[in-house]
Amino acid sequence: MDKMDSRALSEFFNMLLEAERAGVKVLGELVRQVEAQQLKTLLNKFLRDEGVNCRILVSFINDLGEAPSDKTGAFAEKVFALDTLHEKMNLLIRGQEWVARKIREFRNRLPAGSTHLFLEAIKIQHEENVDSLKKYLAE
Ligand SMILES: [Fe+2]
Repeated sequence: MDKMDSRALSEFFNMLLEAERAGVKVLGELVRQVEAQQLKTLLNKFLRDEGVNCRILVSFINDLGEAPSDKTGAFAEKVFALDTLHEKMNLLIRGQEWVARKIREFRNRLPAGSTHLFLEAIKIQHEENVDSLKKYLAE
């Protein structure tokens, strides 16, 4: 597969930026709502990572000379529309899986070096989050 040009790359990064921003919104709210300390600690770690990811993605988009999106993914409203914490956690797992899957789809077309490494780190982080949430829900 060919490497992506600047426009395609910035569209990919903006798609992830909107998703990560939705993650920050969702997690910020869930951290406040959740009472179980173990889950709160877990979600706080996700929240920190998603915030860092937003900053990394904005830097990449700026480096390309493109404009970072100021939108927030529709994912946040979908989570807030659910009634139970269990449903919210299950949708959160699907959202985390979606990000990891998108990076897997595009990773061979990313520029080598730090871009590839940072995106790989974001992918692994989301895979770990899925594993941690599934483990927590199974306990
Ligand atoms: Fe995320």
